[in-house]
Amino acid sequence: MIRSISILGGQGRRGAPDAFERIDLHMGQVVSIVGPTGSGKTTLINDIELFAGGDTPSGRHVLINDEPAPVEYRYNPAKNPIALITQHTTFLSDLPVRQFLLTHSKVRTGGSESPQMMMDAIEFANKLTGEPIDLDNRMTELSGGQTRALLIADATVICSTPVVLLDEVENAGIHRTKAVQLLREFRKIFIFVTHDPRIALLSDFRIVMQGGRVTQVLSTSEEERGVSAHVNRLDDALSALREKLRMGHRLNAGELQEVA
Ligand SMILES: Nc1ncnc2c1ncn2[C@@H]1O[C@H](COP(=O)(O)OP(=O)(O)OP(=O)(O)O)[C@@H](O)[C@H]1O
Ligand SMILES: [Mg+2]
Repeated sequence: MIRSISILGGQGRRGAPDAFERIDLHMGQVVSIVGPTGSGKTTLINDIELFAGGDTPSGRHVLINDEPAPVEYRYNPAKNPIALITQHTTFLSDLPVRQFLLTHSKVRTGGSESPQMMMDAIEFANKLTGEPIDLDNRMTELSGGQTRALLIADATVICSTPVVLLDEVENAGIHRTKAVQLLREFRKIFIFVTHDPRIALLSDFRIVMQGGRVTQVLSTSEEERGVSAHVNRLDDALSALREKLRMGHRLNAGELQEVA
């Protein structure tokens, strides 16, 4: 039973130490990792996924419930408490979505295929996508956004791992606020690498990176929560505009004027 994950500071690319000694993440928390391109965000979530023990270039350590992770986590996928959705997703499998989900449910439960899990997963995924995924679609035919949504649903519903790491969810055009809201209901630890202010401000706190090192850990302040509501309005307006363009509509001169 996982209660917490802790990261013990290591160092950045040029050897300067991380600006924290220890970060504790608890069940139910949503955390963002922010920073410029190349600043070490993916490296940090890889450290977490690998249960780093001072043996990665950053020298960081990751603890589960205050202890080094049991070795079986690394070698037995059914025991691994962490699901990672990477930046570059390609499928080697050409299975229909239905079979992918059923097979995965079987691997995860160690028993028989679970049609219920499959239905829950597809329902979850389709709350995040613009165009629904059909169970008879082949995995390789899904769009980038559909793929992302399916993987998030799979990690959340079927893997039921207590920790989910997502490397840059935003490029995929899925409903981000909805995703964060839905994910919160699952009471896991979610760690998002993000360039998106909307996701960063919906998080409990954010880890700021530069030059391969963590420079700050900031919890979202009350003041920022106010800004967050404003960001959501702006972002919704922009999304509505994007949707119009997608649907082949023309824009008029006053388009974004009412959003301040
Ligand atoms: N602590 C570190 N020690 C040594 N090398 C590092 C460290 N952190 C990052 N690097 C190296 O720096 C490079 C960029 O890091 P990374 O890919 O993690 O950046 P990123 O923030 O994910 O960038 P992007 O936003 O483009 O995805 C990689 O080659 C990585 O191996
Ligand atoms: Mg990256």
